[in-house]
Amino acid sequence: MVEEVSLPVLGSGDVTGPESARRMLERTGCAGLMIGRAALGNPWIFGQVKAYLNGGEVRPPKLVEIQAAMARHLFLLTDHYGEEPARRIFKGWAGRYLKGLPSAKSCREAIHRSGSLEEIRTVLIDYFEQRSGLDRWTGPSGGLS
Ligand SMILES: Cc1cc2nc3c(=O)[nH]c(=O)nc-3n(C[C@H](O)[C@H](O)[C@H](O)COP(=O)(O)O)c2cc1C
Repeated sequence: MVEEVSLPVLGSGDVTGPESARRMLERTGCAGLMIGRAALGNPWIFGQVKAYLNGGEVRPPKLVEIQAAMARHLFLLTDHYGEEPARRIFKGWAGRYLKGLPSAKSCREAIHRSGSLEEIRTVLIDYFEQRSGLDRWTGPSGGLS
């Protein structure tokens, strides 16, 4: 099908990690990929796919990188929407970033219960500080899906 058109065709839909990205490229011969849902809360997926396709090491994000991404996301939401909308919107994002992280359930629940941005920041700082010794975790990229 890709050969039938002269324009570059992009593959899209259900790419969830490095292996499914490779499958999509191999099976369809597409010129590039779009990744949507799997990047929500996992922006590292793009670097992981690129590394995998280039034969490099697929590195899971460090906890400190996840913490930094969450803090920046919260800052940008606050800057754009204001404090109260940001607090509400961030609850959904927090669940995505924390998915699969060690003992994240209580952190997610505390964020859901939180009544202020300050409370969310404190919950996150405590969560990541308590796990600062865990340099790596086997999350979304660990399974290479
Ligand atoms: C949050 C989000 C934002 C998206 N933004 C765009 C966009 O700006 N332009 C576009 O062509 N597709 C956009 N898409 C579509 C994705 O690139 C992709 O084609 C679609 O989500 C199906 O793939 P998925 O299974 O990886 O989600 C977006 C998808 C999501 C989930």
